[in-house]
Amino acid sequence: MAVLEQLSQYQWYFLGVFLLGLIIHQYRQWARLSAFKGPLLGTFTNLWLPCAILTRRCHLKFDEVNEKYGPLARIGSNLLVTNDPELLIRMSSPKSNYTKAPWYHGSRIQPGHDNVFSSDNEKFHTERKVQLVPGYSGKGNEHLTPSIDSHVQNLIHLIRSKYVSTDKESRPMDLSRKAQYFTLDVITDIAYGQPMGDLVDDDDVYKYIQSTEEMLEVIILLGSMPILNDILKVQWIAELMFPSEKDQTGIGRLIGISKQLVSERFGPKAVQRRDMLGSFIEHGVPEASLVSESLLQILAGSDTSATVIRATMLYLLTNPSVYRRLQAEIDDAAHEGRISRPVVTDTEARALPYLQAVIKEGLRIYPAVTGALTKVVPPEGDTVTLSATNETVFLPGGTEIGYNAWGVHRSRAVFGADADVFRPERWLIPDGTELARMLRSLELVWGYGKYQCLGRQVAMIELNKVFVELFRNFDFALCDPTKPWTSLNVGLWIQRDEWVKVTAR
Ligand code: HEM
Ligand SMILES: *[C@@H]1O[C@H](CO)[C@@H](O)[C@H](O)[C@H]1NC(C)=O
Ligand SMILES: *[C@@H]1O[C@H](CO)[C@@H](O)[C@H](O)[C@H]1NC(C)=O
Repeated sequence: MAVLEQLSQYQWYFLGVFLLGLIIHQYRQWARLSAFKGPLLGTFTNLWLPCAILTRRCHLKFDEVNEKYGPLARIGSNLLVTNDPELLIRMSSPKSNYTKAPWYHGSRIQPGHDNVFSSDNEKFHTERKVQLVPGYSGKGNEHLTPSIDSHVQNLIHLIRSKYVSTDKESRPMDLSRKAQYFTLDVITDIAYGQPMGDLVDDDDVYKYIQSTEEMLEVIILLGSMPILNDILKVQWIAELMFPSEKDQTGIGRLIGISKQLVSERFGPKAVQRRDMLGSFIEHGVPEASLVSESLLQILAGSDTSATVIRATMLYLLTNPSVYRRLQAEIDDAAHEGRISRPVVTDTEARALPYLQAVIKEGLRIYPAVTGALTKVVPPEGDTVTLSATNETVFLPGGTEIGYNAWGVHRSRAVFGADADVFRPERWLIPDGTELARMLRSLELVWGYGKYQCLGRQVAMIELNKVFVELFRNFDFALCDPTKPWTSLNVGLWIQRDEWVKVTAR
């Protein structure tokens, strides 16, 4: 109290003005979006999102608020979340004036270096994307298909040599690990011409998986709290927090390796290679950005595809009729010589209708990217009609809007009453408005339009090949059906312990 007594009248006056200012500020923040309802924590503070992430069931938290408060729910002083596919498509469509929000800054892997994903600068994003597209599309990358094929073969070889159970011996295999060994080897090989070598060593060679499991939550928390991002701009804090190229393992080690591989492409004895890195250089990505862009590729491209493989396998192993039908389609195609050995081609796989339906259903039932992917309403604001209610609402300029993946991809309005069921047959209906509506909504698993995933083709080639070769060679069963796996969600998935029993066919 002594302190209070010492305050002069003058100081009291200032304190009063300050508090009044604070109240007015808070009130105006609240009033701007008062038309949108949401949980109390999200209505008056920005703590709802970080709390949702910390529950590690973030995908369900987003969906709960849309279920309870409608298709546009308020989860922060300036943040809404939506499950409306048409609004999400509108925000990312090529001509849209929406931009990325500071949420994306969390994905700057190296402090001070933006990449195509992390930047919220439209001009930078558009220019960079043009430079990257040829490398990602495989046109400028003659190694793409042979690399993927060689790693599919490595995966099959690894399973055959170490993990085939017999009547005499049980050899459980953690599919969650092998799936990511596969996607990591593929992505590092097509990025730099140097696979990580996880499948060959049957190990998380650089402790990359362990290190991302630890980092992922931090990266996404940073994106959810812009204040933390600002703190990280302070050099010494950044050095403490970010992985360092001097590290012997993890992301830091990968930064070191990337730097070395990039530098080999320059100078008098420059290595020339027609891979992604080569294509990026040819199309004008500055040398200083190459490390960030190739690291992004690895972060964006290994966890995501691994999630789709793990989840689709789990749903296959727990749906015997789907499992049998898929395997029969593969067997018939093999007997009739419609699929090559040792690895099916992408074109051959695309001609297998049930496989395609299984892949679509796998992408839908367990969307690999469930992060908020927040976008900002253009300064003039936007008037939109919500598809669920036909209600017209005005979104004030500058409002941030996040993506509720679970809600979109399990929508009963789009996919029918059994939206929560894994049923590939839903994709095998005749062409028409119903199928078109489902396909349009499914697009959103890749993001849409100007922000769409650059690795979509690569991921689809991987998926087209991996299931055919797994089921052509082996049979699978869950080791413990009462605890099939551990799957945590912080916006991306942290998945482990998917133990399966493999038998030879
Ligand atoms: C099944 C696997 C995958 C899924 C479901 C997926 C999904 C996504 C999603 C939802 C986005 C964000 C869209 C947005 O910001 O609105 C994205 C962006 C991106 N993805 Fe993928 N992805 C997958 C695999 C890959 C692979 C294999 C690579 C690399 C080869 C990759 C590279 C990228 C890049 C570079 C971006 C940033 C694009 C931009 O900001 O314009 N992804 N992806
Ligand atoms: C985006 O902004 C420009 C310039 O203000 C305007 O001409 C254009 O119609 C807007 N685009 C959309 C899709 O609203
Ligand atoms: C919304 O309006 C369209 C066209 O006016 C109509 O076809 C549709 O049934 C309406 N939907 C709802 C949910 O009211």
